Amino acid sequence: MKAARIVRGVAGAVLALALACAGPRATTGVGSSHSAPEPRPAAPGTNRDRHGDQDVARYIDRLQSEDRIADLQVDIVIERLALASDAVVGDLGCGPGVFSLAFAQACPRGLVFASDIEPAQLDRVRERIRDQGVRNVVPVLASEDDPHFPPGRLDLVFVADTYHHLEDRVAYFERLRSVLKPDGRLAILEYKPGKIPVGPPADHKLPAGTMQAEIEEAGFVQVEKFDTHAWHDFEVWCARRPRESGR
Ligand SMILES: C[S@@+](CC[C@H](N)C(=O)[O-])C[C@H]1O[C@@H](n2cnc3c(N)ncnc32)[C@H](O)[C@@H]1O
Repeated sequence: MKAARIVRGVAGAVLALALACAGPRATTGVGSSHSAPEPRPAAPGTNRDRHGDQDVARYIDRLQSEDRIADLQVDIVIERLALASDAVVGDLGCGPGVFSLAFAQACPRGLVFASDIEPAQLDRVRERIRDQGVRNVVPVLASEDDPHFPPGRLDLVFVADTYHHLEDRVAYFERLRSVLKPDGRLAILEYKPGKIPVGPPADHKLPAGTMQAEIEEAGFVQVEKFDTHAWHDFEVWCARRPRESGR
């Protein structure tokens, strides 16, 4: 009996942590008058993203929830990135495609590679591109250590709320440099570290400064930092050129 109670308690804690990663107010509900969609029944073990809710349908719904989309300020992100209409973009950890579809609209003569490790996320991207008649989004199934973007072709790699889901990140981003054009950019939108009223709990995020230190170690230099989001850091990086290397 006691053992069963302990197992139930541990399982509950794990589920709560996974839900927290799905987006703003998943667990706290603080600071919002919005509410996330009614959760569907759990189907454990169905999400390849180990940091996400194991009920992938519920996770996807939460990623598309109104309050989360409002916090992401997709239009402002697109505007600040000022992409050419023929830009080629890689959306790393695209989820259900909130940003992929916005990039596709902003770059009608370009191409968006929407990459995710979880096939159900890509199914949702496919539904959306079919429903909206979008012709310039290519869904790509990622491996744990590779988004499978085409080498040397990308003007921008974009990473939203996914950085802390990745493993062995310095090596991952070192490799990622090879998919960028020489003047290509890496843009990262990531929950601010520490305790904030939305998003994952503080101890589920990286400590302050870790992401920046890792990206620098991977060979990037920061070129822009926007003060646009209440709960996110929004930073743009370029691959460090040899003369800037100092290594
Ligand atoms: C919090 S969601 C963010 C989704 C999307 N970027 C957005 O902002 O709506 C994190 C996403 O990263 C994906 N993911 C996790 N690990 C990954 C990996 N190694 N490669 C590619 N995608 C990954 C998950 O499946 C999930 O869709």
